[in-house]
Amino acid sequence: MFQLLTKRIQLASKIAPMWTFNGSNIRKIHATASLWHGEYEWQDPKSEDEVVNVVYIDKDGNKTNVRGKVGDNILYLAHRYKIPMEGACEASLACTTCHVYIPHDFLDRLPPSEEKEDDLLDMAPFLKENSRLGCQIILTKELEGMEIQLPQATRNFYVDGHKPTPH
Ligand code: FES
Repeated sequence: MFQLLTKRIQLASKIAPMWTFNGSNIRKIHATASLWHGEYEWQDPKSEDEVVNVVYIDKDGNKTNVRGKVGDNILYLAHRYKIPMEGACEASLACTTCHVYIPHDFLDRLPPSEEKEDDLLDMAPFLKENSRLGCQIILTKELEGMEIQLPQATRNFYVDGHKPTPH
C-alpha cells in the first residue's frame, strides 16, 4: 500500500523527492517517473535540433503536417494530432491496425523489420512492398520530410466506424 501511494505521488509530480527506509536509515532520494505509453509524443521538441517534420496522409489523401521530434513513435504521434491510426494492441506487435506505407526512399533509413512484424504484415489488408507497422517506427533526423500514408483500411478489432481516441 505504501509503495503504491509513493508511486502515485511520484507520477503526479514527475520529479519528486522521496523518503526511503531500509531498516535503520532514512534517506531522501530523487526519482524520475517513467512515462506512460504515448506520453512522450505529447511533448513538444525542446530545441530545433530534435525537430523532425513529417506528413501524414489519410486514406482520402488529406495531408497533415506534423512537427515531431527525435524519439517519437509515429503511432502515438498520430494520436496526438487525431490522425486515424488505431493501434489496437498499443504497440505490442499483436495487430495490424497501425499499418502504414513508407516512401521507398525512406525505407532504407529505417531499421529492418523484425520477423514478428513481417508475420503480422502478411495478414494486413492492402499490403504493399513498402508496408510497415507504424508503432515500430521511431523518428530520427534522417526521417525529416517523410510522408506516412495510411492504407484504405486496416483489419480492425472493433466494429465498423470505430474512431480511435488518443490515450
Ligand atoms: Fe498493434 Fe502496432 S499497434 S502492432
